[in-house]
Amino acid sequence: MNLQWYPGHMTKARRAMEESLKLVDVIVEIRDARLPYASANPDLKKLGQGKKRLLVLNKADLADPAVTAAWEAFFRAGGVEALSVDSRSKNQAERLRKQLDLWAAEKSEKDAKRGIKNRPIRVMVAGIPNVGKSTMINSLAGRASTKTGDKPGVTKGLQWIRLSRSMELMDTPGILWPKFEDETVGLHLALMGAISQDVLPLEELAVRGIRLLEETYPGVLAEKYGLSRTEAYEMLQELAEKQGFLKKGSVPDTEAAARRLLNDWQAGRLGRISLEKPEESEE
Ligand code: G4P
Repeated sequence: MNLQWYPGHMTKARRAMEESLKLVDVIVEIRDARLPYASANPDLKKLGQGKKRLLVLNKADLADPAVTAAWEAFFRAGGVEALSVDSRSKNQAERLRKQLDLWAAEKSEKDAKRGIKNRPIRVMVAGIPNVGKSTMINSLAGRASTKTGDKPGVTKGLQWIRLSRSMELMDTPGILWPKFEDETVGLHLALMGAISQDVLPLEELAVRGIRLLEETYPGVLAEKYGLSRTEAYEMLQELAEKQGFLKKGSVPDTEAAARRLLNDWQAGRLGRISLEKPEESEE
């Protein structure tokens, strides 16, 4: 199987990212809590050297809580500050704010010692497409935020949202690219809808997903849809029959079933499921 889905605009995005990174002190790196390995950017560590990094395991409301806790512990053990959140919740974004406030205070203290006053800490939210960057920016910024406008020497159009006297947030997220050369990564991202599902025919994608689910959360599909078959493609056919997805001549419409299955999974209707565990992955 060949997963060719590296989008050409990513080269441009990388350059823009490098420019933007020069302007910030802190990177809030958003990953998907259901796939913290696949939703990582391979180069961010290097690109963000010398910056503070806060790793956010987002969409934690959709992920398996025990697995997410294991991921948090895994990252912290490696010296990376990690927080799991549902970024649609302002309360949860507040937990992030607390960590950022702490870093802002540290920075002001350091600056003060060098005779620099009132230079706010600058924060950028970054991550691969669809992990929830804009949602996080909205939750962090809230309604009370004011835009500070363009600054000299800063890319035109780039705006900063003042979060407090000591903190500014870049109002556009840094878009990063995933580890596109890794086939399993492509599969996991496609299953969670983080990249175009065109990487595989829908039915094949669903069949691969069913196999993964049966390995890690056996019985979850049987319970959700009342399935009795155990072979992945047959399960898809049975799902089509049960849902009344039939083509001419009562042939099961497995493509419609695949779409239903993937939509249900991505929306959390199969329960809280994590595709990746820390022991299987490296950061
Ligand atoms: P991006 O900027 O990184 O590309 O992602 P964005 O914020 O646009 O979020 C992508 C989708 O993920 C959105 O759903 C958003 O609501 C959802 N999302 C973001 N954070 C969370 C989270 O913590 N939990 C859950 N369950 N969902 C989250 P959408 O269907 O594309 O849009 P909409 O229906 O919200 O308008």
